[in-house]
Amino acid sequence: MKPDLLVAFTPRVRQMAQLEEAYTCHRYDTAADKEATLAEAGPRCRAMLCNGHFDLDRAFLDQMPNLELVAVTSAGFETIDVEALKERGIKLTNTSNALVDDVADMAVLLMLAARRQLVEGDAYVRSGDWGQMGMFPLTTSTAGKRLGIVGLGNIGSAIAKRCEAFGLQIGYSGRTKKDVPYAFFDNPKDLAAWSDILIAATSGGAGTSHLISAEVLAALGETGSFVNISRGTVVDEDALIAALENGTIASAGLDVFLNEPTPDPRLTKLPNVVLYPHHASGTTETRDAMHQLAVDNLAAFFAGRPLLTQAV
Ligand code: DGY
Repeated sequence: MKPDLLVAFTPRVRQMAQLEEAYTCHRYDTAADKEATLAEAGPRCRAMLCNGHFDLDRAFLDQMPNLELVAVTSAGFETIDVEALKERGIKLTNTSNALVDDVADMAVLLMLAARRQLVEGDAYVRSGDWGQMGMFPLTTSTAGKRLGIVGLGNIGSAIAKRCEAFGLQIGYSGRTKKDVPYAFFDNPKDLAAWSDILIAATSGGAGTSHLISAEVLAALGETGSFVNISRGTVVDEDALIAALENGTIASAGLDVFLNEPTPDPRLTKLPNVVLYPHHASGTTETRDAMHQLAVDNLAAFFAGRPLLTQAV
């Protein structure tokens, strides 16, 4: 008999077919009556699949008394009550290993686009302004500058590797000094003061809320650029908007926002920020790999093998 699985997020077609093959899938994701589906299937499932934006709270967990594994298809999982999982001995797997390259690429893309005014330049050509008004204003170069990475985990390290090739000097801040040839700072403010460009690559959640404060942005300074590919909560967004409006910093590139999918409209009016819709990992290849990793973690769990990427 196939084990029961609660599917609370719709995976890609190939991975969904694998789940259908291996498990009796209870489709909470598509259920018309979600409450009834949970009440009926919840007690039977030892595992569930969801993404990192799913509200997995105590009330939901109460309806899954036999739950042992939450296989998350994303890297982040801030909306999941991790303390409640720990209390109940429930494990969680995530997929940050699968998205490293695309997210690091996006950090570099946003950095360069912000500093070279790619989006404005594109509009300048399309609108005909180039023909009417002549040469586009000069922009700011990146090679030879100092890059500060807040959070040198797997994604931060991949950004560093790429940016070394761009001729940037690398510094980082984090909880611990690592065995890497980059300058270490034990706080983001000192890192920002050293840096020309600051990239937030840390995880989200309460522990990193407003890590990039008004003070940090002031330390980055008026020629500095800020890039965020982590979570909107990591930066004090009001302070960031003020810094971009007042010229406290020069530019920003943002993949993540406090309010998604409807970010603060003040951001969309600023000419010195490049915006992307929380889609750094949004490629076919990476989403396939992320969903496959979640499926593989489920297979390992049901086979009694070690989990591939246990985060909790
Ligand atoms: C992740 O996987 O956490 C990405 O940010 C997409 O949500």
